[in-house]
This record gives sequence, C-alpha cells and structure tokens, in this order.
Amino acid sequence: KRTVIMISGRGSNMASLIEAASERSFPAEIVGIISDKADARGLHIAASRGLPARIIARGDFSSKEAHDAAIDDALSTFEAEIVCLAGYMRLLTTGFVEKWQGRMLNIHPALLPAFRGLDTHARALEAGMRIHGCTVHFVTAETDSGPIITQAAVPVLLDDTEAALAARVLKAEHHLYPLALRMVALGMARMEGGRTVFADTE
Ligand code: GRF
Repeated sequence: KRTVIMISGRGSNMASLIEAASERSFPAEIVGIISDKADARGLHIAASRGLPARIIARGDFSSKEAHDAAIDDALSTFEAEIVCLAGYMRLLTTGFVEKWQGRMLNIHPALLPAFRGLDTHARALEAGMRIHGCTVHFVTAETDSGPIITQAAVPVLLDDTEAALAARVLKAEHHLYPLALRMVALGMARMEGGRTVFADTE
C-alpha cells in the first residue's frame, strides 16, 4: 500500500516507519513525506533516504480548509492509499479527516483514552501512573479519540523524570507504529462503524 507520512518535527517515528517499510516483505511502501514546517528535522532524514518531501506550510494559505486542500492534493499526487501522522502537530479539518477516515493513522504518546492532547508524560507522572505507553489509532474528527489499532505499555519508574519516561515511551512507539501500519496495510485491522475490526488474514 502506498503510504505517505505527515510530520512537523523530529521525525523519529517517520524514520522507524521508513526503516520497517524498507524490508521487502513489508506490506506498505513509503512513497512520500509531507511537512507543515520547512525546518522540520525529519526532512533531513527523508532526504537522506531519497524520499520525496513536500513542505506545505499553513502560512501560505488563507484558511485551514485551503491548507488541508493543498495537503489532499499532494496526497493525490503521491497516489497515497494510507496516511500516517507522525508528530504532525496541527489539527486537521473535519472534511479532510472524514475523507481519509479508515485510511489515516496517528500515534499518540499515551495509553488512550487516558491523556489525550499535549504533555502526556508530565501528566502521567503527575497522576501517579505506574504504567504509561503509546497508542496507534485511526484518525477521526475528534482529536486523539479514533478507534484504537494497537497499544504498547511501559513501566513508570519511581525516580522517573519526564525526559526519561518520554524516551522509554518513544522507544515503544518506534516498535509499535510499523506494527500498526502493517496490520492496516494487510487489512488485519480496519475501521468499520466507528470501531476497529480485526481479522486474521495470515
Ligand atoms: C511522538 O511522541 C508522537 O507520539 C507524537 O509526537 C511525537 C513525534 O516525535 N505524536 P517524532 O517526530 O516522531 O520523533
């Protein structure tokens, strides 16, 4: 399946997806990168892998709708079948999300439905959580609320700092996102009636 990754920054999840998809047997092919930030560090990784990248900045458009329409155009040009949000830090318009529903994934650094939104690691520590983790889900109009595809948990250690916990979760993310993309690309996980339906196709 032709897959486009959307980023805004560091791009470490993007890199893990590119790495996994470089295996011949992997069911998805990364065909392009879209960034809303010209200075996203992930763009250097994309370039070093020889992947085409498009910078589509919000500032170049008069409205959110026009911005998302340009992204949609780019996705068409890439002939994308699946879209992976990987640290794309902008809320998408409902029309765009609905068009890609069931074909657009996001990774969130918490065990949803706990800790939607930002600063998840600090909030998990503050809440006294003993486990924390990450979630890959289908993207729906409501942020961080779409049906869950897969999750990974990590322990919270007694002397954890936000940075240490973030690093532990990030490592799990790098493992989890390729797994989720694989499931969706193979049709082992699909969105139906607002839920994830799992099929054993192997
Ligand atoms: C990750 O923690 C991801 O879960 C969240 O944003 C961060 C992106 O990191 N959505 P990177 O750009 O993939 O390194």
